[in-house]
Amino acid sequence: MQQISDITPLREIRRQWQLEGKTIAFVPTMGNLHQGHLHLVEQAKQHADIVVTSIFVNPLQFGPDEDLDSYPRTMEQDKASLAELGVDVLFTPHAADIYSRGLEKQTFVEVPGLSYMICGASRPGHFRGVATIVCKLFNMVQPNMAFFGEKDFQQLQVIKAMVTDLSMNLQIFGVPTVREKDGLAMSSRNHYLSEEERQLAPSLYQSLQYLQHAVENGRRDFSVLLNQAKKQLSDSGFNVDYIEIRSVDTLLSPGHEETELVILAAAFLGKTRLIDNIQVRL
Ligand code: PAF
Repeated sequence: MQQISDITPLREIRRQWQLEGKTIAFVPTMGNLHQGHLHLVEQAKQHADIVVTSIFVNPLQFGPDEDLDSYPRTMEQDKASLAELGVDVLFTPHAADIYSRGLEKQTFVEVPGLSYMICGASRPGHFRGVATIVCKLFNMVQPNMAFFGEKDFQQLQVIKAMVTDLSMNLQIFGVPTVREKDGLAMSSRNHYLSEEERQLAPSLYQSLQYLQHAVENGRRDFSVLLNQAKKQLSDSGFNVDYIEIRSVDTLLSPGHEETELVILAAAFLGKTRLIDNIQVRL
């Protein structure tokens, strides 16, 4: 595996691959890789000749009171995992190159609507930061396809909308969430949980499963169900940010006829914000 931090050699190798007629899959990450990320890489390898992964902790997607400084950075370990999986290039750009004119002057990409609801309402500017960095990385790597986890379901929908709206020439794949044995969705932020919080954490997924089961079995009193789930989570120690039943494509409240739903939740355990979701097909 080759590690590249500058854009010029990345473009050079990209040009070479193109001359050789190779297809390129891209897996952007912020590092601190877990099985969920590695599964994205495995999927990418199955679909393309070349796999490029990036590690860049993107300051533009963190709010002023969020965990940018403490976000776990485990570069050596990440490199070893990616090399073992046969990643061709690890792109590790420097913030000074990515945002060379400074964060304040940075041109940004904003996907309206989808970016402002649910997680976007709690984290203003977050999806603008995500869309901007993903757009920039796509411009640098120029992949034929890119892979994102469904755990960040809203992020995946924002990116798909950006690709459509800006007529970008690549395919986006969503990959199902990888979970711990007890159901907790894998996330770099799980490391922040204390032992006691870690024991409680799977209840978030259990609540989603309960709601999924209820809706699949015909319950349509969504607000009653959601209030029950919220109370159950609060009683067991979560500080619930939101728990919502939405339409898969638009993430808006579903109409009566809608058959593809997603139940999304975000909740704090102590200082750790956990997110998860589950899809419901009627
Ligand atoms: O999902 C993530 O790790 C990040 O939001 C991403 C897509 C790499 C952009 O920084």
